[in-house]
Amino acid sequence: MEAITAENLTITYEGVPAVEGVTFRLEEGETLLLLGPNGAGKTTLLKTIACFHREYRGKLSVFGVEPCRAREMIGYVPQSHSLNERVPLSALEVVAMGGLYRKGFLHFKIPPEIIEKAEAALEFVGLSEVKDRLFRELSGGQKQRILLARALISNPKLLLLDEPLSALDPSARAEVSNVLGKIKKERGITMIITTHDINPLLEIGERVMLINKRLIAFGKPEDVLKDSIIKSVYGPLARVVPVEGRLFCITGDVHLHHGGGRR
Ligand SMILES: Nc1ncnc2c1ncn2[C@@H]1O[C@H](COP(=O)(O)OP(=O)(O)OP(=O)(O)O)[C@@H](O)[C@H]1O
Ligand SMILES: [Mg+2]
Repeated sequence: MEAITAENLTITYEGVPAVEGVTFRLEEGETLLLLGPNGAGKTTLLKTIACFHREYRGKLSVFGVEPCRAREMIGYVPQSHSLNERVPLSALEVVAMGGLYRKGFLHFKIPPEIIEKAEAALEFVGLSEVKDRLFRELSGGQKQRILLARALISNPKLLLLDEPLSALDPSARAEVSNVLGKIKKERGITMIITTHDINPLLEIGERVMLINKRLIAFGKPEDVLKDSIIKSVYGPLARVVPVEGRLFCITGDVHLHHGGGRR
């Protein structure tokens, strides 16, 4: 079954296109790695699929319906997470919030069935032991896994992840990509993952999309990750090299952080 269909999709902010004329189709259970330089429209595309941004034309459907009718099926993990870290929430409370928002109310006392779900989600991401610690005191990789648990507790059919690996050191990157692999293998959830560094995720993505406002390429990793395609977006120094039978993509691209937030 199709998970997402976009046909000639143009997404605008007050009439100005940020994504233009994009067409692609993602099947249920597939993982799409969404690649593109700063300002390419990656976050814009994710937000539109999640119904956080509604100014678009062309066709966009999620499990056969328009995005805003599919909200219940979608989990979203934002780029620079919007939690206010001055509020001293425990890891468990942060995860439980995923279940509370979904029901449209915010309790001061978390209902026991949501605590149970939150504990199961924490176990799934391998963080049961930090459940009572303050979220703001956890490491970057632990925080990202907590945010994954928070998105998982409402049992989404589609998970949208905006740069889940940025701002992490290599070992934290490995931790988080392992959890992403586990979500794919054990839950079969359809995922779209935006990233500036595709290499740690290549094993779990069966589709790759490269955008730069317009669609540059979409398809299997080996069809998209070609020297000529990568160079057309990232310049002459970019290249794709095979390393021990696997592709390794060098774009020279690093994430530029907008405003404050994590580094
Ligand atoms: N709220 C907004 N209002 C107006 N323009 C916006 C808004 N958000 C994004 N844009 C513009 O849309 C374009 C795409 O931005 P977007 O954040 O989707 O890119 P991105 O690929 O996610 O970049 P990055 O890699 O830096 O996260 C940019 O030109 C940006 O300035
Ligand atoms: Mg972005």
